[in-house]
Amino acid sequence: MVWADGDPRARLMFVGEGPGAEEDRRGLPFVGAAGELLDRMIAGIELERGQVYIANVVKCRPPGNRNPEPDEIAACRGYLEAQIDAVRPAALVLLGRVAAHALLASDAPVGRLRGAWHEVRGVATRVTYHPAALLRDAGLKRPAWEDLKVVRDRLTTGIAAD
Ligand code: URA
Repeated sequence: MVWADGDPRARLMFVGEGPGAEEDRRGLPFVGAAGELLDRMIAGIELERGQVYIANVVKCRPPGNRNPEPDEIAACRGYLEAQIDAVRPAALVLLGRVAAHALLASDAPVGRLRGAWHEVRGVATRVTYHPAALLRDAGLKRPAWEDLKVVRDRLTTGIAAD
């Protein structure tokens, strides 16, 4: 099972989809190629991996890297909600469609959900593209960077900009 990484008292929490092969092997989230990019994104807002909290919607690797099934998401939901409640970050970033749809009452595409603040369990929440999507489509890197800057500004000023 891949539970989380980082600081359980972090002010910023990221939620991804589920462990891939490397994450499954090492028991840590986001330690493969997408994780390296996530580390660089975190560094871009002047933080280190150890200063944020990183978790996934599903805690076990879906075989063959398929998307998690609705019953798998439902089985892990209580754990994810308990993680958010325990950490109580100042801001939450949902990485990609699976995380956004699992935690927001919406099935809109990421491109429509990003660009606004949402609320998840009382936490100010932003949606952005999954790092794996950024690796496939470099054109998404700029909007993802814009998303992270808004989050950084909120963390540093406490003011919710759009
Ligand atoms: N992708 C995810 O969504 N989570 C991980 O932990 C690794 C890759």
